Amino acid sequence: MNKRIGILTSGGDCPGLNAIIRAVVKCACQKGWEVYGIPYGTDGFLKLEQGQCCSEDLKLQEHGYDLPGILHGIDILQFLSGSILGSLSRGNPSDPAIAKMIIQGYQNLQLDALIAVGGDGSLDIIYDLAEQGQWNLVAIPKTIDNDVPFTERSIGFRTAVDTVTSALYDLTFTAASHDRTIVVEVMGRNAGHLALHAGIAGGADIILIPELTPQIDSELITNICLRIAQLRLSGRKFALIVIAEGVKNQAGAKEKYIGDYLAQNINEMSHKLCLSDKPEFYDLDKLETRSTVLGHIQRSGTPSSYDRLLAATFAKKAIDLIAEEKYNQLVVWQSGTVQSQSLDKVIPHIKQCHQLGVCPSPVNKDGFLVQTARSLGIYLGNQESEVRSQKSGVRSQES
Ligand code: F6P
Repeated sequence: MNKRIGILTSGGDCPGLNAIIRAVVKCACQKGWEVYGIPYGTDGFLKLEQGQCCSEDLKLQEHGYDLPGILHGIDILQFLSGSILGSLSRGNPSDPAIAKMIIQGYQNLQLDALIAVGGDGSLDIIYDLAEQGQWNLVAIPKTIDNDVPFTERSIGFRTAVDTVTSALYDLTFTAASHDRTIVVEVMGRNAGHLALHAGIAGGADIILIPELTPQIDSELITNICLRIAQLRLSGRKFALIVIAEGVKNQAGAKEKYIGDYLAQNINEMSHKLCLSDKPEFYDLDKLETRSTVLGHIQRSGTPSSYDRLLAATFAKKAIDLIAEEKYNQLVVWQSGTVQSQSLDKVIPHIKQCHQLGVCPSPVNKDGFLVQTARSLGIYLGNQESEVRSQKSGVRSQES
């Protein structure tokens, strides 16, 4: 049976969103279905209801986007970052009247199903709207933080790992030329996946992630200085430190730029230590520390082949689920294959974590990547100060 489906992207953008849109349109067109691209997440339904756009404006043809002129026909969408539909980070319609209009907008389009591409925050909101409006929802996980539970991979994460890894490569040479220690602050919200993956791949000497270093303390800073001093005594005069933005300051509070805060603390502590009588710290007298915040660069960049492939497989699965009329599902990557998980299981877990203020899918503190980093001699913080169990019932990922 021919179907009329919608697709929207919600929450922070990331590389690979357009690759999903393109693959959804391609798979749906093969079946003779119609696809409508909802602009700016659920705000698009509001615009429809308010008459600011009409359904014909939203219809996506062929692979979703065409260039004009002699380049017409080039299937370019999967190479572009961002989202041609736009995205929305503040999408929570706390006003019931707005929620009602969004639901009405959905009904006006007469959709058989909706594919929502989102992270933990936006999927939580869309799930509630879908429940109220009785939408036939299929969700696809995306985020550079890789913190959507029940899936080992989310769209955008691998490209962000490549971006950070490449930045670490570039920073290595300037650090080496000036015998400097460079602190690199990496995104990830409350999760350390991005910092851990890129830190190992990019050759970091020290990696600090919230799962292992919830907050900075003076013992940690002393140990970092000791590690840098050891490197310098061995002839390696530069060092790279990767810190995830989720690590907190000495008071356990969030800093605007935790990388700057750490760099300043290392500078102060190293000057103090080299005045001590301990020979292991003598080489710190000339230590210069700088910090770099990679920021939103991590959210853009050409989607990697991995993310494009993941986008294609996730889109195919979403279309299959709609064809089977199996709704209320999150498309997931588990044990090397694409599967789906009921949102009735996923969303309560996310809501519980949001209430507790913990990450819905943190790094596994005893996982293979943490062990690998330690085996490589990467300093991951003070093991004894690690919080062994964040909160009961919180799943952690293998990495
Ligand atoms: O969730 C993706 C993410 O990029 C986080 O890593 C980061 O903390 C946050 O979004 C930044 O959000 P904004 O773009 O609203 O500043």
